[in-house]
Amino acid sequence: MRETVRIIVTTYFTSGFGTTERELKLDDLPVRGTLPTWLRGTLIRNGPGTFQVGQQRYRHWFDGLAMLHRFAFHNGRVSYANKFLESRAYDAAQANGRISYSEFATDPCRSLFGRVATVFSPKLTDSAKVNIARIAQKYMALAETPIQVEFDPETLKSVGVFSYEPKTFGSMTTVHPHVEGDSAYNMVTRYNAISHYRFYRLKSNAAPELLAERPSREPGYLHSFGMSQNYFVLAEFPLVVNPVSLLLWLRPYIENFAWKPRRGASFSVIERRTGRLAGRFQADPFFAFHHVNAVEQGDELLVDLVGYDDASIIQHYYLQRLADPTIELPWGTLRRYRLPLRKRRGRVQGETLADACMELPRFDYERLNMRPYRYIYAVGVQPGQRQGFYNQLVKVDAASGKSWAWHEPDCFPGEGVFVGAPDRQAEDEGVVLSVVLNAAKGTSFLLALDAQTFSERARAELPHNVLFGYHGEFFSQQ
Ligand code: CO
Repeated sequence: MRETVRIIVTTYFTSGFGTTERELKLDDLPVRGTLPTWLRGTLIRNGPGTFQVGQQRYRHWFDGLAMLHRFAFHNGRVSYANKFLESRAYDAAQANGRISYSEFATDPCRSLFGRVATVFSPKLTDSAKVNIARIAQKYMALAETPIQVEFDPETLKSVGVFSYEPKTFGSMTTVHPHVEGDSAYNMVTRYNAISHYRFYRLKSNAAPELLAERPSREPGYLHSFGMSQNYFVLAEFPLVVNPVSLLLWLRPYIENFAWKPRRGASFSVIERRTGRLAGRFQADPFFAFHHVNAVEQGDELLVDLVGYDDASIIQHYYLQRLADPTIELPWGTLRRYRLPLRKRRGRVQGETLADACMELPRFDYERLNMRPYRYIYAVGVQPGQRQGFYNQLVKVDAASGKSWAWHEPDCFPGEGVFVGAPDRQAEDEGVVLSVVLNAAKGTSFLLALDAQTFSERARAELPHNVLFGYHGEFFSQQ
């Protein structure tokens, strides 16, 4: 019986949550099918490169040491390189052979002296592994910890660090800044007796500009925020922390947060121009990592996100659980909350726009962020095969609820990044790029789906496995 289990586990756990052993640089990956000739540029993906340091394992999918993967597209050909992100956390792990910095759900071992040091100055990771963005002309690897790492997109080498606030201890940020023109916007949670959510604008060659702040006694765990033409949208879920426990730091970061459903959820709508509160709306408790889009339509502000009934998804991402091939992940689904801006207050209810399981949602952000849109691309779980990890890519039509899926036996796709055809007439004219793990072979490939038909256009095979990562970004070169 034990043997059977081990064989099934091998199908995705060892190659998806183990290590990517090598740093490679390959000029030409073997391509099957045809990539569009207009696809010119670079996809950079971020995620963990190892879940193990020496004999120590990290505990959660959101732990691990950052590795960047670079796919460059030119004339239908694809080159590839991968490299661990240089950081103090990585250097210390290499030098000591053990986990040396605190991650999302893993702390370094506490010795008698180490414990004291950790309580008063937690060594938060600077291994920025969650997302990639070009902010104020700089390529940044982003983490929820306040230190963001700038890297060279050609060599993947680190070239500097950035932080929103001069004091780098005591705050967290989202890894999903919004970009509009030459400005980027992000939210920082600064923990204190009274904590504050702070919204910043970043422009090149200028210090971060504080645009708005909202106080909170028990701030929530927030992974992203909404932004429409005129407003920031702060969706607060009842997964909250008493900041004192972050100061004491008796357990890893996320384990200081508690689910308090009686608080319900709320939406604060903040005017971007003035920083003033324009409305506050209550909702039944729910949880989300990802906002998708926020669109002003008449008197309403439509807030779309991938919602869950509670925050148990975080528990499901512990590696101990993911190693069990019979687990079923809670399903996130596309939800829309309509906030009546004129009323300024009141209760709102979410509407589920599609039944499909979704996570890591993407859409045509470049053209349709803050604007009416229809199509969202995401990873999901097949309705007929619910056990294990995300095993398909989906495309959802927010207008009709219709969905399309791509799946293949033994294949586990990562985030599907939409890249629009430069002269597109239809919203979904373009490709969806995803790094897919073929667990039977123990290797990964880059998949390009036609975004309209959601069928395969091409794939480029890698000679090794890429661990389950989070986010990436495509940078066009026209
Ligand atoms: Co995210």
